[in-house]
Amino acid sequence: MKYYITTPIFYPNSSPHIGTAYTTVAADTLARYHRLLGDQVYFLTGTDENAQKIVRTAEANNTDPKVYVDGVVERFKDLWRALEISNDDFIRTTEERHQSVVQLIFTKLYEQGDIYKSEYSGWYCTPCETFWMENKLIDGKCPNADCGRDVELLKEESYFFRLSKYQGALLKYIEEHPEFIQPVSRRNEMIKFIEGGLEDLCVSRTTFQWGIKVPFDPKHVVYVWLDALINYISALGYPDGQKYQQYWPADVHIMGKDIVRFHAIIWPIILMAIDIPLPKVIYGHGWYLTKDGGKISKSRGNVQDSFALIQRYGSDAIRYFLLREMQVGTDGTYSEDNIVERLNSDLANDFGNFVSRSLAMIVKYREGIVPHPGQDGPLELELKALSSEVKKIVNQSLEGCDPASALEGIWRFVGRCNKYVDETAPWTLAKKEDQKERLDTVLYTFVECIRIMAILTAPFMPGLPTRICSLLGNDEKLIRWEEADQWGIIDSGIQVQKGEPLFPRIDVSQYLTEEETKTVDQSQMESIENEVAKTALEFEPIKEEISIEEFSKVDLRVGKVLSAEKVEKTDKLMKLEVEISGEIRTIVSGIAKHYSPDDLINQYVVVVANLKPTKLRGITSQGMILAASQGEVLEVLMINKELPGGSRVK
Ligand code: MSP
Repeated sequence: MKYYITTPIFYPNSSPHIGTAYTTVAADTLARYHRLLGDQVYFLTGTDENAQKIVRTAEANNTDPKVYVDGVVERFKDLWRALEISNDDFIRTTEERHQSVVQLIFTKLYEQGDIYKSEYSGWYCTPCETFWMENKLIDGKCPNADCGRDVELLKEESYFFRLSKYQGALLKYIEEHPEFIQPVSRRNEMIKFIEGGLEDLCVSRTTFQWGIKVPFDPKHVVYVWLDALINYISALGYPDGQKYQQYWPADVHIMGKDIVRFHAIIWPIILMAIDIPLPKVIYGHGWYLTKDGGKISKSRGNVQDSFALIQRYGSDAIRYFLLREMQVGTDGTYSEDNIVERLNSDLANDFGNFVSRSLAMIVKYREGIVPHPGQDGPLELELKALSSEVKKIVNQSLEGCDPASALEGIWRFVGRCNKYVDETAPWTLAKKEDQKERLDTVLYTFVECIRIMAILTAPFMPGLPTRICSLLGNDEKLIRWEEADQWGIIDSGIQVQKGEPLFPRIDVSQYLTEEETKTVDQSQMESIENEVAKTALEFEPIKEEISIEEFSKVDLRVGKVLSAEKVEKTDKLMKLEVEISGEIRTIVSGIAKHYSPDDLINQYVVVVANLKPTKLRGITSQGMILAASQGEVLEVLMINKELPGGSRVK
């Protein structure tokens, strides 16, 4: 079976954030699942580059739009790599292979009378790249619920696409294909919208030149949405490409709820007009919102660096969080606390703990050799039945583009495995000579449970199978979907290892907000943050006398600051990369209120070089830099002569 899945193509006007990543991670999970089923999968993502907002952002940055997007596109690609996204292609709408198909389709629609020239007089929302008629505006602003921003009045010669002509045919199609728009809440919204009447759509602009030119009237550029939607077939080489023949129609276009309207109305009408089949499913998921229900957006200053999050918690944990927290038909709540909570409870406590403690018992009681099992008892039979049930739940949920329910099902199995350990109490069996065979059965069942957990979670957390297989004798062949409810697959006699914890628990004091952290570990934070909040001139009492020998234990060195950046979510902490004797150290220091990164880069500071490393906000700080402070004033000690990093300070 072939399986063609797409994400929307992203506007590269700013770097992707963790909310934007949801669609791509969900699509990747479905693609990986179908590969495990043995399907021939084609998974497409890319960037939507011909938007007016790209021109605006590039202008604001004093750059050429192409130069600007080239930079941001790399950030998207980097993020997808960091999240282990397995896309087969990445299309950019500035590529020739896309532009020629858009021009071909535009010309065809014009020649057959579906596109005609007239004049557009109305409003345009550049952030949403959407035309609005006056009567749709709310208080003169964009009526889009997630937007509400200013709109601009346009009056220009334009080409129009006869959406109205296809209204009846589209409604009929939607009614006859209940699976076409999912979930059902979005389907109902779309039906209502279409029944309200479709107006012809303005599909060209003349007031800027960035975009794909209308071939027979080059002062017009093609409207960005018409251009963008076509990526789903241009990437396959429409009209005669082999991939187009093989993969079209798409099995799923997955996207956020805000853009279902374009995919469920404009896109099918384009396809009807050029007479090619419609995609099978258009799936609109919810949004990740902040705890207070707001959007994650740069302008609200709540965008966290996705790369830092991945570095802190690992790609698998971030993927797990995103997929688990977004329930069908609703929005998900994004916060770092939620990530840590999921990681600690679901991944470290439930999943990781089962794997470590069961493997540790095999190591302890059977020297790491998987024993031959005896007869199954009722508990083993129950686990076997549950694995079949859970595999079905996962199949059904993923067919319905619902990773959260699939994971919920898998965690029923994980929970049952943990309960099995307590019920069978191998530590008691190990003490009784006549229970040897029973203990063998239990230990064997443990490795089978681990294998099944690895298979079931493989589409969601692609880093896990390899790590688990390395504990189970490095046999990658253990990850076969069809064997997720089969038992007795692992050979007795193989050697297993306990290994490192799969998901180390996160110490909450590393990520809490500054105020919260103070209550967790007051002294640690205060020594680092230098009591800058004190306003009164209160000098600290001189500390107890020490000997010269004791002082000489403190190894002070000159360090050259190579880079500096503020630590997110704090206003005091600065992360520095400091060179000492050729070694590069990371040092977190409470100086961010007093220095900007540029003040520090290339300066020589004094470092306590033999201080035990400590973790601050998840960052391991390998030393401390010296600063003088009193009340609100703080000055970092700097060496003005160019003494190389590593020189002693005595
Ligand atoms: N370029 C158009 C899509 C054209 S497809 C032919 C576009 N781009 S976008 O960059 O603005 O959005 C891309 C996707 O990211 C959309 O599916 C959108 O819903 C999704 N998300 C953006 N922010 C999001 C969250 N905070 N949470 C979940 N998804 C979000 O629209």
